[in-house]
Amino acid sequence: MSTPEFIKVNPQVEKFIALIELNRPKELNALNRQLMAEVRDALKVLDEDDNVRAIILTGGEKVFAAGADIKQMANATAIDMFNIDQFSTWDQIKKTKKPIIAAVSGFALGGGCELAMICDMIIASETAKFGQPEIKIGTMPGAGGTQRLTRAIGKVRAMEMVLTGKFISAEEALNAGLINKIVPVELLYTETVKLAKEIAKQSPVAIKLAKESVNNAFNSTLEEGLLFERKNFYLTFASEDQKEGMAAFVEKREPDFKGK
Ligand code: CAA
Repeated sequence: MSTPEFIKVNPQVEKFIALIELNRPKELNALNRQLMAEVRDALKVLDEDDNVRAIILTGGEKVFAAGADIKQMANATAIDMFNIDQFSTWDQIKKTKKPIIAAVSGFALGGGCELAMICDMIIASETAKFGQPEIKIGTMPGAGGTQRLTRAIGKVRAMEMVLTGKFISAEEALNAGLINKIVPVELLYTETVKLAKEIAKQSPVAIKLAKESVNNAFNSTLEEGLLFERKNFYLTFASEDQKEGMAAFVEKREPDFKGK
């Protein structure tokens, strides 16, 4: 992978934990196409790295991301947008098998909110603000804001955010079910790593299958989802990790999962 310009990647910030930090501070981490391609490429490499079991995506302590880069798309035609197809990058990000935790501080707006929502969990600092303000610039969310937000917080709340562009605080986001936890800004990194470590302790095989099953809940009927879950459950029995996990329980010791 060539050195990225708009993100910093540390594949081993702690044992089994990788960190991707958006790094376009002057533009409040606005998500231009190159930045998103760099995130996609980094995730692909980390997803294939056996020493990585959980990934943290952050914008640092000041801002998560103020949305897609408005300047980059301001003069585009619909056909430009169609040809560029910037959201195909997002489709690939969505395919990441390992869990991704967003650590959000400051603004997570438009594409920034959507990027946090494409992650599997969100830890926010007290300064976090979430919003889908695209309506204020004459457009609408295009990277999942009308879909993931609605599924996360329900129709009426999503409708209000999408149709007025209003921001919600970390506390409102927590009450609405958008985020997992609020922490003081100076503890954002530590608390996110703590959660990542809890996940990294588990069987990497079971973690990936479980993530896939939870995400599948949004794409299937209950019956189909239950069947999918059952097959993935059975599949864990093909892993050494399942044998190790159950043996460790019986022998009253900690399991040592290898991801096999
Ligand atoms: N795109 C491009 N540049 C951006 C940007 C964005 N989304 N957000 C901020 N910037 C730039 C500003 O233009 C400014 O650059 P200059 O210094 O060169 O003028 C710099 O970042 C700092 O921004 P502000 O001076 O505006 O900072 P502020 O503290 O006064 O305001 C803010 C912060 C409320 C977040 C404001 O910047 C803002 O409203 N940004 C746009 C938010 C938005 O509309 N996001 C949605 C984008 S569209 C989208 O995301 C579509 C999709 O679904 C994928």
